[in-house]
Amino acid sequence: MKIIIINGPNLNLLGKREPEVYGNETFEEYFNQLKYKYPSIDLSYYQSNIEGELISKIQEVGFSYDGIILNAAAYTHTSIGIGDALKAITSPSIEVHISNTFSRETFRHQSFISPNAKGVIIGFGLKSYELALQSFLLH
Ligand code: DQA
Repeated sequence: MKIIIINGPNLNLLGKREPEVYGNETFEEYFNQLKYKYPSIDLSYYQSNIEGELISKIQEVGFSYDGIILNAAAYTHTSIGIGDALKAITSPSIEVHISNTFSRETFRHQSFISPNAKGVIIGFGLKSYELALQSFLLH
């Protein structure tokens, strides 16, 4: 099973960025633990701060991978282009967020990703990514 985690802007700063919201762990540390825990999954990771690069990556993997776990970060709330890219591809995607976006500012309540995702996992910290991975394993 081939799965990719795609992270959007500022998520390269996990561990340093607002630790009270996003925790102290870097994504690289977390990703290595996931790879170790699920050796049967061909799991890869991509991060970009640039909207067009995220769209290009979704297009690149979106017709051959078994699943995409996407945290589009702030672009979740603004990017019709990323939403359209998810609609255009054939691979299923799961939207994840580390924080509970619904308990935060109202501008974080809207998502252009959710209507085009298979499901949404929000607010379980970095565990949100593992829950998404498990849902791909179950289905
Ligand atoms: C986030 C929530 C977004 O609102 C925010 O812009 C992020 C991270 C999360 O994972 O909690 O950068 O996607």
